[in-house]
Amino acid sequence: MSSLGGPRPAAGEQPGARPHLWAAGGALLLCGLAVLLGWVWLRWHRACGIPPGPKPRPLVGNFGHLLVPRFLRLQFWLGSGSQTDAVGQHVFLARMARVYGNIFSFFIGHRLVVVLNDFHSVREALVQQAEVFSDRPRMPLISMMTKEKGIVFAHYGPIWKQQRRFSHSTLRHFGLGKLSLEPKIIEEFRYVKEAMQKHGEAPFSPFPVIGNAVSNIICSLCFGQRFDYTNQEFKRVLDFMSRGLEICLHSQLFLINICPWFYYLPFGPFKELRQIERDITCFLKNIIKEHQESLDASNPQDFIDMYLLHMEGEKKASKCSSFDEDYLFYIIGDLFIAGTDTTTNSLLWCLLYMSLNPDVQITTSVICWLRAPVCPGWRTRAKVHEEIERVIGCDRAPSLTDKAQMPFTEATIMEVQRLSMVVPLAIPHMTSEKTVLQGYTIPKGTVVLPNLWSIHRDPAIWEKPDDFCPHRFLDDQGQLLKRETFIPFGIGKRVCMGEQLAKMELFLMFVSLMQSFTFALPEGSEKPIMTGRFGLTLAPHPFNITVSKR
Ligand code: HEM
Ligand SMILES: *[C@@H]1O[C@H](CO)[C@@H](O)[C@H](O)[C@H]1NC(C)=O
Repeated sequence: MSSLGGPRPAAGEQPGARPHLWAAGGALLLCGLAVLLGWVWLRWHRACGIPPGPKPRPLVGNFGHLLVPRFLRLQFWLGSGSQTDAVGQHVFLARMARVYGNIFSFFIGHRLVVVLNDFHSVREALVQQAEVFSDRPRMPLISMMTKEKGIVFAHYGPIWKQQRRFSHSTLRHFGLGKLSLEPKIIEEFRYVKEAMQKHGEAPFSPFPVIGNAVSNIICSLCFGQRFDYTNQEFKRVLDFMSRGLEICLHSQLFLINICPWFYYLPFGPFKELRQIERDITCFLKNIIKEHQESLDASNPQDFIDMYLLHMEGEKKASKCSSFDEDYLFYIIGDLFIAGTDTTTNSLLWCLLYMSLNPDVQITTSVICWLRAPVCPGWRTRAKVHEEIERVIGCDRAPSLTDKAQMPFTEATIMEVQRLSMVVPLAIPHMTSEKTVLQGYTIPKGTVVLPNLWSIHRDPAIWEKPDDFCPHRFLDDQGQLLKRETFIPFGIGKRVCMGEQLAKMELFLMFVSLMQSFTFALPEGSEKPIMTGRFGLTLAPHPFNITVSKR
């Protein structure tokens, strides 16, 4: 039998293969039909008054590659992926706005994404139509990681509101009163200065020490303790967090959004992610438990204490409350994720702008340099030093009460924030209803990206938007101008919850460093590339500095 069957495979396969072929052919046909239908649907959708934009391609929409990790991109099919990588998504989207207008749309898969590129449309959406534009998109990967709890990715609704209101007012406590963070920040920066001075005249990278100091501030806010720069366990947890974020953004983990059960795969980044989740959970849960054991109702020390007390109060008052330990756990995670990278990078950008030789390189054009005395960015570093000397002197530590008398320093920080825009596309929003925005139809469930970067480089708002010029935030008398188009923290109901805290941190950290040191780039080093490096936030490209004591 076997010897006969061997040489005649074709004849033997004939009857069995037919159904297979049919099935395969049928499946292919069905797939093709589905793709075609999807495409027709997209084209038809375009016609229904949604904002203009490029024609969608079947199956992937327009910019699959914006969200798809590089290794998965089929360049020949999806087109100009490398172009977006080079300049950053926010710049790419701003360029598209020149073609399609300030409100435009595209599809990722079958998802409609609308990008708002100017201040008026962003304000109309996020402020005037806040009830519609304040939800967050549902992505399986994020939902699985956050259980839809916490604040940053939580859905717009009563629970988010309760949790945010409590956390927000608690954060504000840390700005003043007996829980004030001010002495903690000053103390932390004593360590930073020590660490910087160790380098003497030699150039070094400011990234690790600044990152460590900023996460310590969040730690003392959440846990009531700081960790030494050499503490291995804490370093591991910080590494885990950044590693976790990195693999979520840049690896096969993206596939979880298509097939959620990939999360449970026993290898590669899937396994790593679950390991990281377990370790961080263990670390945080332990800390929460310690707090529960030593809780003193009359003397709360930190965010966890305040939350636990509030939780007990709520439990007594009513049976169903959204405040529980699990929620606390995710909020702490959010504070770390939203509060570390953003503040660290803002401060690094400040140091970078201050290190560029302030007489020449701080402005972008040579013509400006020839007219140096009238050039807006000229002598910024020296002027900040002068102001610090005049208001604070060199013996006393800086305090928030000095801020009112230091408009130039504040304007400098604002100008650095404007140019660097560490959160260029805010955090994606989603519409919870069908609505109309400036004449365009926006369906329910549309992902909305406010392009904050393009607002802060808009020549209609900012004169010479690419130049560094703190004076644009000052009036003729040198007093601070509040400009409503300056929105690095976003606007509307989802505005950054840590805005006040971040402003306070930035001021105290920046001033305490500038008070002690003059920063410069190492002799003969090239000027770093001034466009940011896109991770979760826009970070400066690596650079080294030298410090000299003042
Ligand atoms: C310079 C530093 C910071 C910048 C530039 C910044 C910027 C932003 C932006 C643009 C958003 C998104 C707004 C939107 O979705 O429309 C945001 C959200 C948020 N930020 Fe910040 N942030 C900073 C620091 C902080 C700090 C220190 C904390 C907390 C400790 C924090 C906590 C949050 C939270 C919880 C959200 C989510 C709010 C919500 O979804 O309801 N941020 N931030
Ligand atoms: C910074 O200095 C280190 C050595 O101290 C060097 O390896 C590194 O390449 C420098 N980085 C830059 C961006 O110049």
